[in-house]
Parts: sequence; structure tokens; C-alpha cells
Amino acid sequence: MGTGLFIVIEGIDGTGKSTQAKRLAEWFRSQGREVVLSREPTDGPWGAKVRESAATGRLAPEEELEYFLNDRRQHVEELIKPALSAGKVVILDRYYFSTMAYQGARGFDPASIRERNEAFAPRPDLLLILDLEVDQALTRIGVRGDTANEFEKRENLEYCRNVFLSLADEPFTRVIPTGGSLDEVTGRILSEMNAHHH
Ligand code: TYD
Repeated sequence: MGTGLFIVIEGIDGTGKSTQAKRLAEWFRSQGREVVLSREPTDGPWGAKVRESAATGRLAPEEELEYFLNDRRQHVEELIKPALSAGKVVILDRYYFSTMAYQGARGFDPASIRERNEAFAPRPDLLLILDLEVDQALTRIGVRGDTANEFEKRENLEYCRNVFLSLADEPFTRVIPTGGSLDEVTGRILSEMNAHHH
């Protein structure tokens, strides 16, 4: 995939993905790299529909899976591939590993979800899994468990965390513990960046 660098940040809600994604983008910019920072679901039409559904009532499982796949196809074609071909650093806050986790939690087989995605979605050079115990994640997002919306329920998150951790042995994966301060977590991520380049 060109000369770009493709980094994906994953993890359950409450692990601080978006903050760390922004900080990582800033770090690459300070190194003189051109960075594209993006997220899934995207702000495109399919992504907007799934975001809406979190508030207005969740989509049926099949429909939800299709929407995430459609959103990603568009993201890959319109943003990810062109940016990588242009030699940029692409940093994503969530990607198809989230589909394996969250739609896996809705009953689909994570391995088949992975195959369907890898038919069109390039693998990242580096997958950073921000990890945290589910109890701590729920505390961070201010949820006690009984008031959580569908996406945030404890069992879902337990399932999702396990799917993410099942990717730990892939050569491109680094598991980053997110206990401690934001700065400590950023430090852990940046030391992985340095290790990756040398
Ligand atoms: P998130 O990035 O957490 O959105 P926000 O910043 O608005 O909280 O993503 C929203 C939810 O979408 C999150 O709970 C995970 C879910 N999701 C899936 O279920 N499947 C997917 O493929 C992706 C990318 C996200």
C-alpha cells in the first residue's frame, strides 16, 4: 500500500482512543509527517445512520452489519487508500476489528466478519489495542451497568474486550494497557512507535 503508514487504534468504550489518536497524530506532525486522522463509524451517510441508531433504537443485526461494511467500503476507497498511496500517515479511531467485536457480540462469527472485511479493507501496519478492565471502562464512561445504553452494556463490553485481546498475537498488534494517566498511556504508545521504526 504505497509508502504510507497505516495505524489503527481499537479498544472498548472508555479506553481513551480518540484522545490518544489525536495525540499520536500531533506527534507524527511534529516529526514532519502528513497525517490523516479519521474514525469509524465515519460522518458519511452510512456512518451517520448507525450513529443515529444508537439514540433512536438499534438497527437489526444484519442491517447494522451491512451499514458498517458500507461505511467502511466508502472510507477505504475515498480516504484510506488515497492517503496511503500519497505517503501519508493514516490513523483510524476504530476499524474492522470493532466490527469483529461489536457485531460479534450480536451473534456473528468474528472470524467470518474479519474475512468479509479483509476482502476489501487493507490490514493496518500497526494495530494498537487500548486495553482496560470492563469495570474500569464503565466507571470512566460514567455508567453503572443498569443505565447503560445497548452499546455500552457490560456483557457486550466483556465480549468485545475478549475479541480485541484475541488479536494480541498478530504480528501487527500491540496491546497498550490504559491504566494510569493520559500522559502515561501516550508514553506507552510513543515507545511502540519508536520500537516500530527501529
Ligand atoms: P465510537 O467511536 O465509540 O463513537 P462515539 O465517539 O460517538 O462514542 O463508536 C460508536 C459505537 O459504534 C461504538 O460503541 C462501537 C460501535 N461500532 C460497531 O458496533 N461496529 C463497528 O464496526 C464500529 C466501527 C463501531
